[in-house]
Amino acid sequence: MPRVTFQPDGKTIDVRPGTTLLAAARQAGVAVRTRCGGVAGCLMCKVRVVDPSTVSPRTDAERRKLGDDADERLSCQTKATKDATVLVPEDPLKAAVRRQLERQKEEEEGGLW
Ligand code: FES
Repeated sequence: MPRVTFQPDGKTIDVRPGTTLLAAARQAGVAVRTRCGGVAGCLMCKVRVVDPSTVSPRTDAERRKLGDDADERLSCQTKATKDATVLVPEDPLKAAVRRQLERQKEEEEGGLW
């Protein structure tokens, strides 16, 4: 059974060969954004795979949507074939909130008072 590790969460799960990375993420409790339900329609489920040889080759749908050279993969189309490490991008909304909180903290620490 392939073992899939999701970073930066560090969560790991053993899955059946052929399980999509999106399904593996759900099983592991890792949030991957999606809107189309896994049919290569929304492009929101993009991830990076550290070693591309540990997952299935690009599907035709991925080639059409992302091209051949992109190092991103659609997690709903990519299947785990060996032990794989997957990099999940931070949710854009969470990233914006985090940056704002960091800015506020810096202002408070470096303030005039
Ligand atoms: S879930 Fe929409 S493209 Fe993968």
